[in-house]
Amino acid sequence: MSDIAKIGIVTISDRASKGIYADESGPAIVAFLTEALTTPFEPLVRVIPDERPLIEGTLRDLVDHHDCQLVVTTGGTGPATRDVTPEATEAVCDRMMPGFGELMRAVSLKSVPTAILSRQTAGLRGKSLIINLPGKPGAIRECLMAVFPAVPYCIDLMEGPRLETRPEVVSAFRPKAKPAS
Ligand code: MTE
Repeated sequence: MSDIAKIGIVTISDRASKGIYADESGPAIVAFLTEALTTPFEPLVRVIPDERPLIEGTLRDLVDHHDCQLVVTTGGTGPATRDVTPEATEAVCDRMMPGFGELMRAVSLKSVPTAILSRQTAGLRGKSLIINLPGKPGAIRECLMAVFPAVPYCIDLMEGPRLETRPEVVSAFRPKAKPAS
């Protein structure tokens, strides 16, 4: 494993992938990570349509072939018929992490009542964490600020690279080791 953290950033949007509009959400994720992390990281960016086999293939490729210890997706979490990101995420994960979706919906609900329309989730594929975010650029920072304090410790527990954060942006929480009795 290389010592530089590799982070996959996947925008899932029919229109952004066709160039009908510019993707703002993927760049917002990169901007948040650049601001929040002091650890060097390599972003691996993808923009793909809402096609379940393609989403699953992209997630598998980023984790299995590019060694991304963290993958953040944006889009495709709602109730529209083309929205299948949570199903694709669940299909490639061995274990789910339901607390991420629960917290992001609870925090987002303070600003928009439609936050409950997001079916966003998170899960583990091997030693990698995959987190879904909604597609709205404005949701990115709000959701990441809520869950990011727990992300470095989650990666530690899976023996990944140690992620350090800028405390003035977001403080990584690591429970203190118990003193030996
Ligand atoms: N969460 C936040 N923080 N801000 C938002 O504007 N939009 C909601 C919800 N969660 C929103 C949000 C809406 S309107 C929808 S339909 C769902 O996310 C799903 O969005 P997606 O299909 O683009 O992932």
